[in-house]
Amino acid sequence: MTTGSYIGISTMKPCCRILGSYKSSSLFGFSPTKFKDSSSIMGIMTKSCHPKSCHRHRYHTCNSDTQIVGYISVINPNRRDFSVSDPNWGLSRSFSTRFCVNIGSIRPRVLSMIPNVASDFRNQSTSVDSHSNDTSFEKIYIQSGLNTKPLVIQKIETDQSELEEVTEETSDGSNINIHSFKDLSDNKVKKELSEIEKEAWKLLHGAVVTYCGNPVGTVAANDPAEKQPLNYDQVFLRDFVPSALAFLLNGEGEIVKNFLLHTLQLQSWEKTVDCYSPGQGLMPASFKVRSVPLDGSNEAFEEILDPDFGESAIGRVAPVDSGLWWIILLRAYGKLTGDYALQERVDVQTGIRLILKLCLTDGFDMFPSLLVTDGSCMIDRRMGIHGHPLEIQALFYSALRCAREILIVNDSTKNLVAAVNNRLSALSFHMREYYWVDMKKINEIYRYKTEEYSTDAVNKFNIYPEQIPAWLVDWISDEGGYFIGNLQPAHMDFRFFTLGNLWTIVSSLGTSKQNQGILNLIEAKWDDLVGQMPLKICYPALEGEEWRIITGSDPKNTPWSYHNGGSWPTLLWQFTLACIKMGRPDLAQKAVDLAEKRISADRWPEYYDTRNGKFIGKQSRLMQTWTIAGFLTSKMLLENPEKASFLFWEEDFELLQNCVCMLNKSGRRKCSRFASRSQILV
Ligand code: GLC
Repeated sequence: MTTGSYIGISTMKPCCRILGSYKSSSLFGFSPTKFKDSSSIMGIMTKSCHPKSCHRHRYHTCNSDTQIVGYISVINPNRRDFSVSDPNWGLSRSFSTRFCVNIGSIRPRVLSMIPNVASDFRNQSTSVDSHSNDTSFEKIYIQSGLNTKPLVIQKIETDQSELEEVTEETSDGSNINIHSFKDLSDNKVKKELSEIEKEAWKLLHGAVVTYCGNPVGTVAANDPAEKQPLNYDQVFLRDFVPSALAFLLNGEGEIVKNFLLHTLQLQSWEKTVDCYSPGQGLMPASFKVRSVPLDGSNEAFEEILDPDFGESAIGRVAPVDSGLWWIILLRAYGKLTGDYALQERVDVQTGIRLILKLCLTDGFDMFPSLLVTDGSCMIDRRMGIHGHPLEIQALFYSALRCAREILIVNDSTKNLVAAVNNRLSALSFHMREYYWVDMKKINEIYRYKTEEYSTDAVNKFNIYPEQIPAWLVDWISDEGGYFIGNLQPAHMDFRFFTLGNLWTIVSSLGTSKQNQGILNLIEAKWDDLVGQMPLKICYPALEGEEWRIITGSDPKNTPWSYHNGGSWPTLLWQFTLACIKMGRPDLAQKAVDLAEKRISADRWPEYYDTRNGKFIGKQSRLMQTWTIAGFLTSKMLLENPEKASFLFWEEDFELLQNCVCMLNKSGRRKCSRFASRSQILV
């Protein structure tokens, strides 16, 4: 990482100093070519920072001694191609929020603007429970109707007399706010924390990272005995999600808001790997707060945010999931705090659009699923998950559903919103139809004809039945089924990947029958998928030649270790969420009880090894924050299942209708519409 990519703050650097530190040909590091695309949704930041567009810069210190709060107005009022509707645009030239900004060799971006147009999606629950028993196509079609939105407002009954704040003292003296949701009207129940929970809260608070005196995230692991932290002393975006949810469920919203805004700033930074710059919307995998001497002085220091977009990461893996998690967390923040103003800010809206632009840009792809390189998600090493891995598809679908709720709809975004809706429909059809396997489907694949040349092909991806692995024939249960790990031409990765399957449930990417089937399978295969420590990251492990060829002989990913069939307790919160959604909290409780037996005694490991998760992982970190936070979040969700409903989605019948209409329009009589009707709609 070079200093050129640092994000910093300073107490003294005036605006002219900032400007002077940039090359005149590329102020703030943007190459002039990037400004050419006037129709680009990326417009607001690139254009706003162009020297000719910048008409005012000023900074002043914020409350904290070390902070600079930048109130930057860098918008050319004549440039409106990125704006929300015109009446609001003027607001972008006034300032609404104080913010700690980067100075030095870093490009600032627009800080805060408040739109006054709000999407009404958030007021419309995506929950359409009343429909969930309707299985016939006709019924659903009629109920959805043309141009009608299923609108069910969920209301939680409140007893105002019970709304007093409930706090508990932790062992470190800090107060834990039990069930305090500032802006939610809900019941609050006094809760006695167990010793393990108290310890977990203490560790979680101990993992908090501050920037300019404000909490902005949690380190990945915080083991004082660890001599080689590598990048585990950084705030990982994906790792912070369970921390954020624990904080939000405990009424601590500030850290989450700061995290969302600071990572948003990092998004607009120029990033280069050698001479190549990845897309502007890319969110970093992680960031670190560093203290660096100010102007060569040994006495004064400034804090800087130092992001890693993959340019330092082992294997230079692309953090595709970061932006998706960011959008998911943004929605959760709004839902759990009631602070929707954050997601309505123009800079936040711009951030969402930049992420979507990266994901929705046309390429050579034939499928609606997102094409990525290996290691672009939680499994951030070579594990044969390049192409269209399930985890990315499920997170992509979830993020699109969030965007559908959050994006402000106006003339400048209506095409994007339409693109989001179309992609959602196409993606759910694709996944439900081609990724789902159960006993029946595997039997179909077993009898597939190959080399079918036509649009009517049954075996569309030309899968050779010999690919069905021996383990699967014995393993697949009469109970339920699952979404396979990956699908490419002539290639099905039949491994069971837990995170992807859980998010398929959470986001309703699968049909309700499929979602139920996944949980049934997990229950039926409990010893394999949960074993002695929830939950296996994937099943089964790659062994022998397969391990050698697919992982590249990775000594960390040996069979039944780490990403290759290791057990990751952080997956517990996502399992809990999925179980609550499907009405199976008992299953989640069983898994939490199992973890609780040893997780604290084992010092909160990152992962466990062996076929049934018996040993603490070979190279596992201890005091792993997302293990701790995942445990706490699971506990709180189980105690407050109604809160969980803010974090998952029910079937969206409007999207289904969209899909059916698209299939109709395609005019291919033998499209799989009829064959797959039950898969799509049930
Ligand atoms: C490992 C994991 C990754 C996680 C990081 C920090 O690299 O594979 O998913 O984000 O550690 O905990």
